[in-house]
Amino acid sequence: MTSQPLILGIETSCDETAVGVVRGRTLLANVIASSVEEHARFGGVVPEIASRAHLEAMPNVIAEALARAKVDIKDIDAFAVTAGPGLIGALVVGVSAASGLAVALDKPLYGVNHLSAHIAVDALDSDHELEPVIALLVSGGHSSLLKVADLTSDVRTLGSTLDDAAGEAFDKIARLLELDFPGGPAIDRLAILGDPAAIEFPRGLTAAKDQVEHQFDFSFSGLKTAVSRYLQQTPTAIKADVAASFQEAIVDVLLRKAIAACLETGIDSLVIAGGVAANSRLRGQAQARAEKAGIRFRTPSPILCTDNGAMVAALGSLALTRGLPASTTGLAADSSSGIERVIWD
Ligand code: KG4
Ligand code: ZN
Repeated sequence: MTSQPLILGIETSCDETAVGVVRGRTLLANVIASSVEEHARFGGVVPEIASRAHLEAMPNVIAEALARAKVDIKDIDAFAVTAGPGLIGALVVGVSAASGLAVALDKPLYGVNHLSAHIAVDALDSDHELEPVIALLVSGGHSSLLKVADLTSDVRTLGSTLDDAAGEAFDKIARLLELDFPGGPAIDRLAILGDPAAIEFPRGLTAAKDQVEHQFDFSFSGLKTAVSRYLQQTPTAIKADVAASFQEAIVDVLLRKAIAACLETGIDSLVIAGGVAANSRLRGQAQARAEKAGIRFRTPSPILCTDNGAMVAALGSLALTRGLPASTTGLAADSSSGIERVIWD
């Protein structure tokens, strides 16, 4: 093995069958097949459909990733796979594929945490220091503020959502606005045409009384109710204004808390990751507000924010480079694993 290991990462925790190849911290290939269109008419991901789609797509996605990276499967130094959290039937497809490859080729396999992988993608294609960092992880299933002392072994939760995840809130409001699923990108596009100050929607858990117990926690259920009520009571509602004002409320809360976490912990680096980090308003506002607060802000390119295999390979690569032991053969997927379990034993 050279000093720059070649890692293939597999991600199947939800509806993306994704394979990434990295060498050290350099991205070589990132191939994603999504079954999102098969779920669209149900308004959400149907687990059985996702599992079957993963099985069908996997061989081609692996072959395509190797071809784009211009490497042979025999040259891979280690495999990495999302082992949790996620849909169990979907995770099992990825874990089985990665285990089969690792055993057949006699290479180490790292079972990795999906959420940590969303943050670890920050390592790619730049050699900046990775830790310590405050991570705002906002996806369809999670909204957390994390204190990351070590991406491969020490990730702690400062706060998380008490109800809906940020992405879930985007998806639900999009449905109220009769937009396409997934709702995040649809609201992002529509909001560009609207006025973010048109309607003053509530900012959950930002009142002084909430700061004692819930300083770094989120709640989006009040916002969802407020938008729903506004739409019911306002027959002349301008959808673009509703989308922009709703988006502004979410972005404002996420950033207020993320920047407060940096200031409180004295950690002057902020990474925003996960599917919602692809949001254009969140990216723009984060840059502006972090700069004002003297915080270094980074966010992966949008394609690396939503689920992908490169993030899994990136975390596997860090684990291997830092000398962490590989996971045992026959590692089990864990659909509800917490953030503390970064690499599987
Ligand atoms: O990380 P991800 O791909 O999958 C999970 O692990 O959940 O995140 C998917 C979520 C969905 O809720 C989707 O609506 C949201 O990320 N999302 C966005 C944008 N792109 C994806 N939300 C807001 N703005 C976007 N541009
Ligand atoms: Zn994700």
